Amino acid sequence: MENFKFSNPVKIIFGKGMIKELSKEISINKKVMILYGGGSIKSNGVYEQVMSALQNHQVTEFGGIEPNPHYETCMEAVNKIKQDKVDFLLAVGGGSVIDATKFIVAAACCEYDPWKLMTGEIPIRDAMPFGTVLTLPATGSEMNKNFVVTKASTKEKLACSSPFVFPKFSVLDPETTYSLPAKQTANGIADAFIHVLEQYLTAHQEAFIQDYFAESIIKVLLEKGVQVFQSPYDYDIRANLMWASTWALNEWIAQGVSEDWATHMIGHELTAFYGIDHGQTLAIVLPGVMHLLRAQKEEKILQLGKNVFGIDSGTIDERIDMTINQIDQFFRSIGIKTKLSEYGLGIDAIAPIVERFKERKWQLGEAGNIDYEMIEKILRSRI
Ligand code: NZQ
Ligand code: ZN
Repeated sequence: MENFKFSNPVKIIFGKGMIKELSKEISINKKVMILYGGGSIKSNGVYEQVMSALQNHQVTEFGGIEPNPHYETCMEAVNKIKQDKVDFLLAVGGGSVIDATKFIVAAACCEYDPWKLMTGEIPIRDAMPFGTVLTLPATGSEMNKNFVVTKASTKEKLACSSPFVFPKFSVLDPETTYSLPAKQTANGIADAFIHVLEQYLTAHQEAFIQDYFAESIIKVLLEKGVQVFQSPYDYDIRANLMWASTWALNEWIAQGVSEDWATHMIGHELTAFYGIDHGQTLAIVLPGVMHLLRAQKEEKILQLGKNVFGIDSGTIDERIDMTINQIDQFFRSIGIKTKLSEYGLGIDAIAPIVERFKERKWQLGEAGNIDYEMIEKILRSRI
């Protein structure tokens, strides 16, 4: 196990009816801005619960944050914050609303061109305080310091991370997820599942707490991720999925081990160029990464196959193929297609993505050996 320093300061407020706790978490003298997406919170009762909890606060709002949030929209919110003299933000929604809010709280404290925070040209040195009410279990954004923002004008989707943008608190009420369309529930399960694998499917490092914890999260996602489609209003199924997704990316399982993230980096480009949902892009790319890097990841793929899917016989190659196949079948069983052609994309779709990685000179993966040529092979294997 490698050395590490770790702290996660996010206060979690979990359970049925817990949105009312907002009144205690946000000081009464704060002027609060509620940020939300395209309106789901207005039709599922979440907006009313938030407004009722904050009835004695001074509240303003900013809606219309799109999935895969746009830099351009975020900058409108930054202007409104300054006009309205807001001093606390509350993100109410899924990963897109929370990520947008993280960018907004940092951009509001930045004197330079805030896009440079995303490109890494300038560091984040400060951010406004904010909390979240999560409505879509998927990204782990409610308990991590990461955010992903897209510049629509250039189709650049970039990820950023800073300890300044940890939420002060996150309210996780599983009942808010009853209204999710099946497609979003499935996307969230695939996203959380692959977050775990990005931190687990690397090299064996004698890190048993991290490994067995990761395997437990995957087992919950596999089991509850199927049951939820038969029983979408079962509180305990929704609660387990919500908590599993938070743990998949609150960075505990990443401590002391190497991480991959190639599937995410390639997936982000599929969203940036072709608008495919985040969870779907990962389900397309992951089997290709596992297949092409099977030798490097052999020990952990075999461990995953044995400990999670019960695959313990056959040659090494057969066991690896069976494990990749089980994962592919799981995605398909929850309604997620895993081939580019199933999203109407062919060989021509690959060139712009490969060109972008070539320009950026990025070397991805836990060993830093996935270059643009390897990315081309991975994507070609997914047509
Ligand atoms: O916009 P509204 O109307 O709220 O509708 C949303 C949206 O259309 C809807 N939705 C959310 N909660 C709902 C609901 N509909 C009904 N009932 C509810 N309770 O779901 C749609 C998708 O929402 P979105 O927030 O875009 O999904 P998700 O949570 O999957 O977030 C995706 C974004 O997070 C980034 C992704 O790249 C993408 O931009 N990620 C963030 C990460 C992080 N911060 O650590 C890591 C991830 O790997 C990921 O990259
Ligand atoms: Zn993700």
